[in-house]
Amino acid sequence: MDRDVDVSIIIPTYNERENVTKLIRSIHEVMTGSRISYEVIVVDDNSPDGTAEAVKALSDQFNIKLIVRPGKLGLASAVLDGIKVAGGRFIAVMDADLQHPPEALPGMIRSLLSGCDVVVGSRYVRGGSSHGLSPMRRVVSRGADLIAKILLPRTRSIKDTMSGYFALKREVIDSVELNPRGFKILLEILVKGRYSKACEYPIEFRARAWGKSKLGASEILNYIIHVLNLAHDIIRFTIVGGLGTLVNLATVALLGYVLGLEHWVSVLIAFETSTIFNFVLHEVWTFKSRFSDGVIKRLIEFHGAVIPHFISQVVLSNTLYYRYSIERVISQLAGVVLGFILNYILSKYVVWRKRKAI
Ligand code: GDD
Ligand code: MN
Repeated sequence: MDRDVDVSIIIPTYNERENVTKLIRSIHEVMTGSRISYEVIVVDDNSPDGTAEAVKALSDQFNIKLIVRPGKLGLASAVLDGIKVAGGRFIAVMDADLQHPPEALPGMIRSLLSGCDVVVGSRYVRGGSSHGLSPMRRVVSRGADLIAKILLPRTRSIKDTMSGYFALKREVIDSVELNPRGFKILLEILVKGRYSKACEYPIEFRARAWGKSKLGASEILNYIIHVLNLAHDIIRFTIVGGLGTLVNLATVALLGYVLGLEHWVSVLIAFETSTIFNFVLHEVWTFKSRFSDGVIKRLIEFHGAVIPHFISQVVLSNTLYYRYSIERVISQLAGVVLGFILNYILSKYVVWRKRKAI
């Protein structure tokens, strides 16, 4: 596709009638002064307040593409739909509510011209500020940032991973599959994008001019699932293993105390129960989308993978304890860790190995 403009500025909107018209005017002023050519792409989810009509009324005056989707389909997917029609060699994304200062746009684009592949409008670098955030939102934002830094190593160089204001070279996301769920499209890009240099540009995050935030409590849970899905599969594997252990213990308690079964019988049943529990979660979550059919074969293979796990655990624990006189809990811990690693490797590279598409 021929690139018609330098930068496509994507603005997702939901009930932002008053804000977006002001924003488009200020973008025009700022960009005209900078001599960077641009288009505005507004992606509106059929806002009941008439946002789309207000934008349409500006389209004789400014270079605007307006996409109206049938209903509220989410911020991230709105951004991705905007990207599909973007004609610029650079893409910028910003909120409509005037919390993101348009004055920063030329500086952000210049960062792209001088070697950055992605530039994040950042509240947490020198010169930036987050005074437009309520104290509660600030805590949530910092907490979410910390989780991202712990679980997603690629985000660690960026101070403001939660920003909704950013710009990038189109190549960074060309043919990269981005997940349209949730709010945090920047996080997807930082983790999956093809870039070598990610930079930050200071912004002053202002208070919302008009209307209210669409970021609700359900987004927090959504966010955690999103981050876990972006994280290395070993993290999901560990979480499933921990839950599987709880299932195992609960089964032993239930069968022993409630049903009065022999302990050795409970142990065997609990072992099988937790093995199946782990299998199901690995199948639908840890390693999902790595296979198409053959569930039964994998179930048998997974049982096969549990045997070396078990043997290595018992052998290492006993060897350390009897042969090297290492304290018993430490010996056992070493055995458990070795068993876990073996189980992970066998699961990832044998049971759920990547099969070539036929
Ligand atoms: N099309 C569409 N569909 N737009 C949406 C939707 C949706 O479902 N939900 C929100 N938007 C638009 C809003 O109209 C606004 O322009 C922008 O997306 C951001 O939404 P806000 O509701 O203003 O979010 P926020 O201010 O609480 O959160 C912002 O700041 C966070 C940092 O504190 C966002 O930029 C977040 O991405 C950012 O992490
Ligand atoms: Mn906002």
